[in-house]
Amino acid sequence: MNEFKPLVFSGVQPTGNLHLGNYLGAIRKFVALQDTNDCIYCVVDLHSITAQLVHEDLRGQIRSIAAAFIASGVDPQKHIVFNQSAVPQHAELAWIFNCVARIGWMNRMTQFKDKAGKDRENASLGLLAYPSLMAADILVYRATHVPVGDDQKQHLELARDIAQKFNIDFQEKIRATGQGVDMVVGEEPIHGYFPLVEPLIDGPAPRVMSLRDGTKKMSKSDASDLSRINLMDDAETIARKIRKAKTDPDALPSETEGLKGRPEADNLVGIYAALAGSSKADVLREFGGVQFSVFKPALIELAVNVLSPITGEMRRLMEDTTHIDGILRQGGERARDRATKTMKEVRDIIGFLQ
Ligand code: TYM
Repeated sequence: MNEFKPLVFSGVQPTGNLHLGNYLGAIRKFVALQDTNDCIYCVVDLHSITAQLVHEDLRGQIRSIAAAFIASGVDPQKHIVFNQSAVPQHAELAWIFNCVARIGWMNRMTQFKDKAGKDRENASLGLLAYPSLMAADILVYRATHVPVGDDQKQHLELARDIAQKFNIDFQEKIRATGQGVDMVVGEEPIHGYFPLVEPLIDGPAPRVMSLRDGTKKMSKSDASDLSRINLMDDAETIARKIRKAKTDPDALPSETEGLKGRPEADNLVGIYAALAGSSKADVLREFGGVQFSVFKPALIELAVNVLSPITGEMRRLMEDTTHIDGILRQGGERARDRATKTMKEVRDIIGFLQ
């Protein structure tokens, strides 16, 4: 093998309602990438028990994420859609990565610091080791490209660090098994087994902000439902939330430079651009000089036009649990085949008897 085969992998946690940030930062990109790539999209249920152990309706949440992927346009026949716990090799590789990664790397993760809060000693060990499982999710398929929102950037850098340390530490053994790929790390040519993943974070809305505060990320855990647009919101609710969205008193600028220091305006323009499949510059060419009283109704119309069909399709899919479960089961089988092959090779490289 002389180079890694391009493969897209990404995951979404089945915790709480999906919102516009998840859609624009991740799921919409999943759909765009599938025409030109081999893709694997995963409902990461093992991750969902790191911050909160017991969930009221975890199965329903898992189904709703799979439904959101499919309703948004992901094709589960051409590509793979499955839930993480159906493929035990994720957890197996995560254990090995726990032994590759250093505690200091994990302690530096801003998401861990945010989620663990002040009482770090009381956070689950799983929450600390979370990025190691995330690296395993991707690398158990030796995936090369990962579409995510900006908040996952640091985790993907860590996935690269883990791959790099594994490749360097096991270099001779990788060569001996003949399963590696010639690659250059820094200046140094090595024979590695895991690719250094490329994050795909670009686009006009890599970080969708709260509708109530343009300096805070739109998030499932925000106490105010007005801060986010949920994928299950009806047209009326979407309209109300956008009407109530915080803005400043000025008209929209004509160029992106003018969005500096105006986080709420920047956010709404970014959302419009991402929903329209255009850029902030294009949106400002059309709406520069316009007041929010005119821009907001246009944004409402666009958001409802894009999101309503997805919401409707999600509802329809979620009523047929047999169908969704069948898709996940089949996807799980296909994913397991690929992951089994990787783990055989990894066990061989490490030197376990098998
Ligand atoms: P999660 O479930 O929190 O979020 C799913 C995806 O949505 C993106 N996202 C956002 N994008 C833009 N603006 C926002 N406000 C916003 N909020 C969330 C996230 O960046 C993510 O892409 N650790 C991951 C799940 C995961 C994963 C993986 C992702 C586990 N293993 C392997 C990629 C590859 C997470 O908690 O995402």
